[in-house]
Amino acid sequence: MPTTLNNIAKQGVNGSTMMPVIQGVGRAAIEIAAVLRGAVFRGALGEAGGENVQGEQQQMLDVLSDEIFLEEMRSTGFVCAVGSEEQENLLVIEEYSHADYLVLVDPLDGSSNLDVDGPVGTIFSIVKRITANADQPLVSDTLQSGRNVIAAGYVLYGPSTMLVCSVGDGVHGYTFNPAVARFELSHPDMRIPETGGYYSVNESNKDSWLDGMGENLKRMKADTGLGMRYVGAMVADMHRTILKGGVFLYPADNKNKTGKLRLLYEAIPMGFIMEQAGGKSVSSGIAVLDIVPEALHQRVPVYLGSTTNVDSLLG
Ligand code: AHG
Ligand code: MN
Ligand code: MN
Repeated sequence: MPTTLNNIAKQGVNGSTMMPVIQGVGRAAIEIAAVLRGAVFRGALGEAGGENVQGEQQQMLDVLSDEIFLEEMRSTGFVCAVGSEEQENLLVIEEYSHADYLVLVDPLDGSSNLDVDGPVGTIFSIVKRITANADQPLVSDTLQSGRNVIAAGYVLYGPSTMLVCSVGDGVHGYTFNPAVARFELSHPDMRIPETGGYYSVNESNKDSWLDGMGENLKRMKADTGLGMRYVGAMVADMHRTILKGGVFLYPADNKNKTGKLRLLYEAIPMGFIMEQAGGKSVSSGIAVLDIVPEALHQRVPVYLGSTTNVDSLLG
């Protein structure tokens, strides 16, 4: 009998209480994967015609994925609010506004890959509400450091659909088995190699990187001879980095002076997974999980990966 996603209830101190929310993420993942597979037949590829709060063109699939995710979080009954890349403001779930949990989400990560049938993902993290006395959950409930995250993970929509998550007791990967329509444990206790494999970055930006990162990368390449891989979807690049070792980075540059990737629904969940997998996550000289967030859509530079490789890049 294979271990299924539901068995996460047995893992870690937060396992049982997280179960309904993680099951909701699993249902959203199954629906989003189906929508992605059928998108070309429904005319659902291409731009939606609007911009999100980041000033980025929304794809129709960004909007659909956001709706699916929100609906599944609502249906759990345990989520009082969702902070999403695709929504300017915190979305309060009115009928459960006293529920315990808030979820931060990048519903569709790497959406520039959609037109070329490339891998995309979903990234999420879950925090406990801290303003228990207020009528409604507040944005300040989302502005908690990564040390307060109680569960986080990602879904990778590749040749198979994988849900990789942690409730603070290591990282476990579940693959969707279409024959029985459920996630089954395929990658128990994922650990990143101490040193590895590849560096992963959009190197075309190197002349505009800040903080001397161009020189750092040049030195690291000369010292280690690492190979290079870059998908352009953080989920896919991080998944490979965890399995094969190495370092993923998105430094600050002249265009994105505080970095491009978003703290609450990209950097923190991936930093949580990285630390739980035995790796390192750094931003502006401190651990990503030690950053005190200031805004829902805040951006930060990120350096995530095998301890040896992150140290050799930043050292
Ligand atoms: P999103 O599609 O959610 O906006 O995220 C895109 C992010 C991330 O997935 C990836 O690592 C990075 O943007 C790629 O950026 P570049 O195209 O600038 O390399
Ligand atoms: Mn993203
Ligand atoms: Mn996105």
